[in-house]
Amino acid sequence: MQLDVFTLVPHAFAWLTEQRPVATVLGGELDLRLYSYRDSTPLRNGQVDDEPYGGGAGMVLRVDVVASALQAAYGDERSHRIVALSPQGRLLTQAIVEELATESHVALLSARFEGFDERIVEHLATDSISIGPYVLSNGDLPAMVLLDAIARRLPGALSEGSVELESFSDELEGGLEYPHYTRPAEYGGWRVPDVLLSGDHARIESWRKEHVR
Ligand SMILES: C[S@@+](CC[C@H](N)C(=O)[O-])C[C@H]1O[C@@H](n2cnc3c(N)ncnc32)[C@H](O)[C@@H]1O
Repeated sequence: MQLDVFTLVPHAFAWLTEQRPVATVLGGELDLRLYSYRDSTPLRNGQVDDEPYGGGAGMVLRVDVVASALQAAYGDERSHRIVALSPQGRLLTQAIVEELATESHVALLSARFEGFDERIVEHLATDSISIGPYVLSNGDLPAMVLLDAIARRLPGALSEGSVELESFSDELEGGLEYPHYTRPAEYGGWRVPDVLLSGDHARIESWRKEHVR
């Protein structure tokens, strides 16, 4: 999969690219490209945003700047999903992550300050996604959230069996995963449920099923 991020701070993604599972699939199943709006802005002095028409606080990411970034990256060839990250977008769910992870090419658009000129969302993006009902300072953390969530769904990202039985998976009928415990079996009077120490796989399985939330 090719995943492109358009941002003002491409270097902010360096940390994530060193972490698993992104690092595991990078260069193999995942081709990550980071684009700065400043590198292709048609405006002078690296300008990318402007004051809002009608007045008010903050700056708005310009439509000509984003159009120019997309043109520089793709020319007129644009058949892939282009996702604007916005608090007004469709609320991100695991189902949306799974859907995006099956695409061969996805672009993520990040904004800052007041956000996008609405024409970007209407005419340049194919989707608009919110990572939750709260406001962050820019779209870079949302882009990283999507990048991580998509990367872990790509083949080879995680060891076999670890994604099948996760929260929100079909195997758990969309439910939340059962609780996990590890050593010590008792800590300050807090005991691990006996069934998990029993070695009886059938009982453990049924305990886990009962504890899907
Ligand atoms: C400060 S926010 C803009 C907030 C906007 N003026 C509003 O009131 O909805 C700047 C940018 O951060 C990103 N952003 C902030 N919160 C987000 C969220 N919950 N989901 C996705 N992107 C978000 C978007 O790219 C947004 O355009």
